Amino acid sequence: MDIFQVIRDRRSIRKYKDTPVEQDKIEQILEAARLAPSWKNMQCWRFLVVRDPAKRSALLDAFPDDNPGKKAIATAPVVVLVCADPAESDVENGIAYYIADTAIAFEHLCLAAHAVGLGTCWMGWYDEAVIKARFKIPEQIKIIGITPLGYPDQEPKPRPRKELSEIAYYDAWPSN
Ligand SMILES: Cc1cc2nc3c(=O)[nH]c(=O)nc-3n(C[C@H](O)[C@H](O)[C@H](O)COP(=O)(O)O)c2cc1C
Repeated sequence: MDIFQVIRDRRSIRKYKDTPVEQDKIEQILEAARLAPSWKNMQCWRFLVVRDPAKRSALLDAFPDDNPGKKAIATAPVVVLVCADPAESDVENGIAYYIADTAIAFEHLCLAAHAVGLGTCWMGWYDEAVIKARFKIPEQIKIIGITPLGYPDQEPKPRPRKELSEIAYYDAWPSN
């Protein structure tokens, strides 16, 4: 699939088939994340792939009931915790780059998943402390986001985006 088509057609998937995800596909999308650029190439990201159904269930009550993706955490055959070690990145101009580094890797993962027919949904609304405790994730590690991973059981319509004219400027910041 052409990269522009992958970018265009990716959607947040919140309904999954129970079809298992092949291990080679999991490795293929993790490999795409591994190749992401990062601050001084320090690669602060870590990925915790949760396949064990009991362990996936242990994640559930860390998500608020009104999180629209909560059900996907229960039903997708795989859940990936995308984490970062801030000590393996830096802060410059007030920007903590571990977030940017790991977000890029996360999006590589989401796009690669879509390219091999799998769905993802970046989720950021959960109780990080609860999940860290359950999975014995070390104190200094941050969970940047969590995604279900599996074969989509829905084809969501595209969500709206701002027009390019609203967000991209040439040569000067627009005056208001
Ligand atoms: C940082 C971030 C956090 C998000 N958190 C959640 C979440 O907790 N639950 C959820 O259902 N979707 C979550 N989303 C998905 C967005 O709602 C979704 O990307 C947006 O509505 C655009 O839809 P699309 O991904 O299908 O294009 C999150 C997305 C991002 C980038």
